[in-house]
Amino acid sequence: MSAKLVRETSFDVSLITKLLIISSAILIFFALGASAQEMGAKAFESKCFSCHNIGGGDKQGPDLKGLTDRRTLPWIEEFTKAPLAMSKKDPIAAELFTKYAPTIMPDQPLAPDEFEAIIELIKNLSSKNEMFTPAGAKLYRAIQPGDIDGGWRYFTGQTKFENGGVACNSCHTVNNVGRLGGGTLGPDLTAANIKYRDPELILILQNPNFPTMTEMFRDHKLNDEEIVQLFAYLQNSKAENPHAPIVATAASGATDPKFLAVGFAITILSLFGLNFIWRKRHKGVRADIVRRSKI
Ligand code: HEC
Ligand code: HEC
Repeated sequence: MSAKLVRETSFDVSLITKLLIISSAILIFFALGASAQEMGAKAFESKCFSCHNIGGGDKQGPDLKGLTDRRTLPWIEEFTKAPLAMSKKDPIAAELFTKYAPTIMPDQPLAPDEFEAIIELIKNLSSKNEMFTPAGAKLYRAIQPGDIDGGWRYFTGQTKFENGGVACNSCHTVNNVGRLGGGTLGPDLTAANIKYRDPELILILQNPNFPTMTEMFRDHKLNDEEIVQLFAYLQNSKAENPHAPIVATAASGATDPKFLAVGFAITILSLFGLNFIWRKRHKGVRADIVRRSKI
């Protein structure tokens, strides 16, 4: 069909056509490769990073750097699916459970491609001796001086959360915030910034991974602005060094090159699509292409 299309045009565009199609195909190929890597990083960030580093040392769970050198793939797969069940029959798993008690790794029902992507990520970073740094755990803008005070207002409920979340001091305290101190259901957060590193703390604010808080904030997520201010407030309350300077985490302004590549490829393909529609005015095809170009 495309050959016919080219022959019918009044000037010869077949070479340009071919070049453009080839270059779009190349761009899409790279974009897909990048998205497999991205899938591993995303899955690891949202499902594993709160307890595991890759290369950053042990946290609630062991550092997963070099995992594939010390365990076989079937072992890792079985363990990840059902750690507790495995600890009852496998001596290595049992040992890990003793060492990391009382934290118990929750069962992780991963899709096969997700599991593979995580394994690839672990292998890749381990072999390059690199550390996993979560991409999403960034503030959307840099911290400004007023943010500490703004965060305190959110923390104590003087400013309401946009999505209706409960004020933090109903369950937490920071340096005995408020005259009467805050709540005691959750831990004292005065030293939260010592216990967690910046990206971990940002991730907790984005997506609290503790049973009580997950429940409370599932339908009442903090917005980006609230996260910046709360982070500034918590970061400023380091117990051992209350006057530590605020180090702003750079907001990520750069555009992911992948999006540019995909955008470019889609533009080129749409141009072909439009060209085709205008020439033929074939209703069925048109509807189909329009539908597809709206993904
Ligand atoms: C709530 C914390 C938590 C989360 C979330 C978590 N883990 Fe774990 N993980 C642990 C703990 C703790 C251990 C040690 C065994 C135990 O006590 O359960 C562990 C052990 C492991 C081990 C064995 C490590 C070794 O050295 O043999 C693997 C593999 C593992 N986790 C993979 C994962 C993957 C993959 C994810 C995400 C899909 C994940 N874990 C999410 C806490 C967690
Ligand atoms: C309904 C009570 C409740 C509210 C409201 C609440 N939290 Fe929590 N939070 C908890 C509990 C309980 C924990 C301890 C983890 C657990 O569930 O076992 C916790 C843990 C944390 C931790 C990790 C502390 C540590 O030492 O590991 C941080 C940080 C945190 N909360 C921040 C906040 C912030 C910021 C807010 C307000 C936006 C907030 N929480 C609102 C109950 C609450």
